[in-house]
Amino acid sequence: MLEPNTEPIKFFLPGPTYVPMDALQAMTKPMVGHRSAGFKTFYLSLAERLPKVLRTSGDVMVATGSSTLVMESAVVSCAAQDVLSLTNGAFSERWHSIAKSLGKTADKVSAPWGQPIDPDLVRSALRRKRYDVVTMVHNETSTGVLSPIAEIARVIREESDALVVVDTVSSLAGARVETDDWGLDVVLAGTQKAIAVPPGLTLFTLSERAAERAAKVPHRGFYTDLLRYREKHREGGFITTPGISLLYALDVQVDRILAEGMEARWARHERLYQRTAEWAASRGCAYASAAGARSVTVSCLYPPSGVDPQAIVKGLAARGYTIGGGYGDWKPTTFRIGHMGEVRESDLDSLLVEIDQILETVAAPAVR
Ligand SMILES: Cc1ncc(COP(=O)(O)O)c(C=O)c1O
Repeated sequence: MLEPNTEPIKFFLPGPTYVPMDALQAMTKPMVGHRSAGFKTFYLSLAERLPKVLRTSGDVMVATGSSTLVMESAVVSCAAQDVLSLTNGAFSERWHSIAKSLGKTADKVSAPWGQPIDPDLVRSALRRKRYDVVTMVHNETSTGVLSPIAEIARVIREESDALVVVDTVSSLAGARVETDDWGLDVVLAGTQKAIAVPPGLTLFTLSERAAERAAKVPHRGFYTDLLRYREKHREGGFITTPGISLLYALDVQVDRILAEGMEARWARHERLYQRTAEWAASRGCAYASAAGARSVTVSCLYPPSGVDPQAIVKGLAARGYTIGGGYGDWKPTTFRIGHMGEVRESDLDSLLVEIDQILETVAAPAVR
């Protein structure tokens, strides 16, 4: 039985996120062989619970490596040649770069930073050309935008036989993700965001049709071969030595997530977003992400006029709090509050009080 986490949270990066003490402590357990009977029993029990988090009746595999490894592996394994990437921020653009770097024929449908992907533009692109794979990012951590993945997946399935390959790195276990109901072929997420486990593991699914398609793709590499992961997973193991200690932390967090319940967890993240939005509106902090597409896990905000976002980030650091600065081109103009994982409303409230105090000291005096 898990103890509720009572430690106040002061760490609001949009990943990695705060990890509860019991999950950290689980990582101090003595080492075991990853091919031992004891470890296999442990892993099979974890493997039985993970699909409930990813909302699939299929397998959920675990790669030891960060999310980018599985982004790249999904293209290597599933795309014979033609890849369409839907881009609206740094991480979705990374996927396009990965496809190009692998020598694939890489096209993109782009929305400006701060905007979600428009399903109609995806439909038009699919009518112009056939693709093996469409890549997309559910929650753009760089801009705090949540794209309508369910609708986009439906359009892709209506218009084509392209595989629907989705990065849910900063949405899984924070915002609703329905792998099976939405018809997603590959769903991947690193553990360091709303799952609240240290970085180093990535969870992913592989639909039957994606597995069949991958089987026809030659040269899938070794560490990048998603089929090989699935084969070993079905035997109760891994293709290489896994991050055993991280798996122990994941085991604790999967129990915590399922004890809270997926619906309740999504609702808590929605409340965290609403609270941040109400506070931001009352302080003159505009959202950089479009209304109607705002992330429930990360708020990307402009500071009040005349305030340098770095003054807020640094002021908080001096008070023992961590938030994210802006990402890439948006670094000079925005700051990001990660309200995901184990963050409670009371933690967020304390953070917002600290920001208020900083704003009182750094804001330009009102012109009368
Ligand atoms: C949406 C998204 N995708 C992919 C990544 C890349 O993850 P990693 O750096 O763990 O490979 C990140 C990292 O923050 C992310 O936020």
